[in-house]
Amino acid sequence: MPRLLLLLLSLLSFLLPHASSLDYCVADTSLPQTFSGFPCKNPSNLTADDFSYSGLANPGNTSNTIKATVTPAFLTEFPALNGLGLAVGRVDVAPGGVIPLHTHPDANEALVLIQGTLIVGFVDTSNKAYIKSLKTGDVFVFPQGLLHFQVNSGTTPAFAIITLNSAAPGAQLTSFSLFSSDFSSKLIETTTFLSEAEVKRLKTLLGGSN
Ligand SMILES: *[C@@H]1O[C@H](CO)[C@@H](O)[C@H](O)[C@H]1NC(C)=O
Ligand SMILES: *[C@@H]1O[C@H](CO)[C@@H](O)[C@H](O)[C@H]1NC(C)=O
Repeated sequence: MPRLLLLLLSLLSFLLPHASSLDYCVADTSLPQTFSGFPCKNPSNLTADDFSYSGLANPGNTSNTIKATVTPAFLTEFPALNGLGLAVGRVDVAPGGVIPLHTHPDANEALVLIQGTLIVGFVDTSNKAYIKSLKTGDVFVFPQGLLHFQVNSGTTPAFAIITLNSAAPGAQLTSFSLFSSDFSSKLIETTTFLSEAEVKRLKTLLGGSN
């Protein structure tokens, strides 16, 4: 028994001095990303600034087709998130604006409404829709992979903070995937049951090739 204890202690003493290098891996985004991610910055060069990001301080520009914008603090913008399975962002939606129907294939999302009003919702894989009018301070969660949206039906700008459980959450916006891409009109008609006229209209609106 004492021998086992000694063995355990010597194992621990071997592990402990190295433990800090396992606490975090702030990505060195100046180096190329490999299959297993970015190399870590040298921990002895890190400061508190490496763990801080100020890019969400100002409202995003909502002068666009959707009258809304998402400002990401994802791995690319905020290398401290590397390996933490976590990302943050701010969502600004002007009155009448919308974050169109989309999914994050890799991440659950929680949204905290800081200012204004938002109608948010998602549809699950049994096609049941969950829709809620949020007021300031409310939180809503969007389970991983499900189609969801945010709409500002109010008269003032809406501002929300989102967090996702992936450092680099992908997003696929349904309308943009279909009508901003070079997906052929004929195939879109076949695979969505939309009319030729409607596909043409949406491609013109969202910039897809015909
Ligand atoms: C990191 O710190 C080491 C010394 O600890 C120094 O030699 C090296 O140049 C630093 N690297 C950068 C990128 O600042
Ligand atoms: C917002 O974006 C629009 C369209 O790209 C641009 O014309 C305008 O200058 C931008 N506004 C600000 C404050 O950057």
